[in-house]
Amino acid sequence: MAKKIGIVGTGYVGLVTGTCFAETGNDVYCVDIDEKKINNLKKGILPIFEPGLPRLVERNFNRGRLKFMTDLETAVKECEIIFLCLPTPPSEDGSADLHHVTECAADIAKMIRDNKISDHKILVNKSTVPVGTAVKVHDIVAEYISDEQFDIVSNPEFLREGFAVEDSLKPERVVIGTSSKYVADFMRDIYEPFVRSGNPIIVMDEKSSELTKYASNSFLAVKISYMNDLSAYCEAIGADIEKIRAGMGADSRIGKRFLFAGIGYGGSCFPKDVRALMHSAEDVGLPLKIVTAAHEVNDQQRHRFINTILKRFDNNVKGMTFALWGLAFKPNTDDTREAPAFTIIERLLEGGAKVKAYDPEAVENTKLRFGDKISYEKNHSLCLDGADALIIATEWTVFRKPDFDEIKSKLSKPIIFDGRNLFDLDEMQESGFEYTCIGRKTIMPD
Ligand code: UDX
Repeated sequence: MAKKIGIVGTGYVGLVTGTCFAETGNDVYCVDIDEKKINNLKKGILPIFEPGLPRLVERNFNRGRLKFMTDLETAVKECEIIFLCLPTPPSEDGSADLHHVTECAADIAKMIRDNKISDHKILVNKSTVPVGTAVKVHDIVAEYISDEQFDIVSNPEFLREGFAVEDSLKPERVVIGTSSKYVADFMRDIYEPFVRSGNPIIVMDEKSSELTKYASNSFLAVKISYMNDLSAYCEAIGADIEKIRAGMGADSRIGKRFLFAGIGYGGSCFPKDVRALMHSAEDVGLPLKIVTAAHEVNDQQRHRFINTILKRFDNNVKGMTFALWGLAFKPNTDDTREAPAFTIIERLLEGGAKVKAYDPEAVENTKLRFGDKISYEKNHSLCLDGADALIIATEWTVFRKPDFDEIKSKLSKPIIFDGRNLFDLDEMQESGFEYTCIGRKTIMPD
């Protein structure tokens, strides 16, 4: 049966989750304190770039199943279940800052008390929160209303940026952390339409559920850092990380995915979640050595790449111009949080070089950080004009089969630094480029 569902926070997780719940026939109340964002959403202007989302938002908004508002009280009165999809940014020390979640939970509890609402409410922690947060939020809410009036559930989100709609409509698994059978059944009911092909809904205790999210993201980060660590060794001994990836990935116990060496993971999740897990484990005196190593390797990898670039020019890039393809932390997103491209830009600017950059979606977010310190081009071809070398930082599809003749004719020297291993080494040898990539030999023109 269709439910009334409240969503607090209309960022990536909240907007996508709310829209997908509306798509399966529920009545969804999306709340945000940002009035401008809410007004824009009502006009169909989305705060994020996410393939497939605009169409779904429009359809469900027009059918009245998806509402946008700044008024939390209405959502609290109307909905039995409220998802907290709020940011949990890293604090200075790397631990997750929970004040948005705890303050919102307290506000909801006060509204329930002050409006004398007697219906049972389920509050869902959808944000990535450290182990123990469900207990913490429970204690906060219990200061205002009685235990029987509410439940707190952990229900971590595993969606990937760029595939958020797909991941939400067809999740590989749904994890629910609760000790209440009533809540587990309620949650199963709203998630069942998304797992018709048989993917599991896994119910567990709250703490295990909270840790499942960190453990999953950190494991993927470990896979990537393992390959990046190995890539340095490959370069030193003349092995090819791409061949090794194929050889490893064919073993189903290892799996093909997340074995791509590159210039390190970025984005709003992996770096933050890895640090938060490290911090939580250190807090109880049990530092997680493998996760810590993954973090360190990731930090070094982007610097290793830029060090190679600088070394190629005897650590003197003053007055040189670099074309930079890709600014987003990965393709199909405008997100530049913890983007390796930003480290590359910073180091080039420090060295007195100029940067001409292109990205299909992330230019506006880059301008917020670098303003007019670099120039932004309308397409990847224009970046090359007057540049001394090309650097590739994001594997957008448009960069995969470039016109090598054009690149060669435009660059002052035929030099490419590829942080994403996009090109075939034999082809690069034939095309006469000096080609430096990750974990593979450097090609020198004949
Ligand atoms: C990730 C998780 O995949 C998702 O389940 C979770 O909910 C949020 O965090 P996201 O940050 O959107 O999603 O991106 P993802 O596609 O997982 O990539 C993360 C980073 O790893 C990117 O910087 C990407 O470039 C990098 N990566 C990924 C590699 O360097 N090599 C790989 O083989 C795969």
